[in-house]
Amino acid sequence: MTLTPLLRRSPRQFRRAAGTLLALAFTLAGGSALAQDAPRPDGALLPRDSRDAAVFRGGLVYANYCVTCHGINADGNGRAARLHNPRPANLRASDKNDDYIGLIVRRGGEALARSPRMPPWGEELTDEQIRDVVAFVRSVNVASQAK
Ligand code: HEC
Repeated sequence: MTLTPLLRRSPRQFRRAAGTLLALAFTLAGGSALAQDAPRPDGALLPRDSRDAAVFRGGLVYANYCVTCHGINADGNGRAARLHNPRPANLRASDKNDDYIGLIVRRGGEALARSPRMPPWGEELTDEQIRDVVAFVRSVNVASQAK
């Protein structure tokens, strides 16, 4: 693929396309087992929904909505990070559980007595997208991998 058709798109389309590529890179780097899902014994063409699939979808959400602040490595060093004080959290090092992460994503920082610079996403994202992005955040979290 050449870059020209990508560059001719509107900024929004461009962001989407870039986000998809990014999420793909995330998945490949994380060694997702998506591609290795065993064929279904009942002959269905699609694999059953799985944690890997949720992480993959969550990576797309992350690449579209979170990466500018939390960064390509989810370490809080996105390209807009320096505009915010406190800075976006390092999600790899987060000690929060899934419920808390889901809550702060849905309701934003301010509702949890944290910085309003963490936006509320409850109006923008579906419940499934929020579940998926929580699965993604969990998958890059160093603390939960040590368990
Ligand atoms: C405009 C910048 C910005 C965007 C976009 C953003 N965040 Fe944040 N986020 C922040 C900031 C700033 C904090 C730190 C708040 C604080 O410390 O009070 C934060 C904190 C968090 C935390 C708390 C982590 C912890 O350990 O306490 C989570 C989880 C989180 N963000 C997830 C997300 C997800 C998922 C998305 C995308 C859906 C997202 N953020 C998009 C700025 C952003």
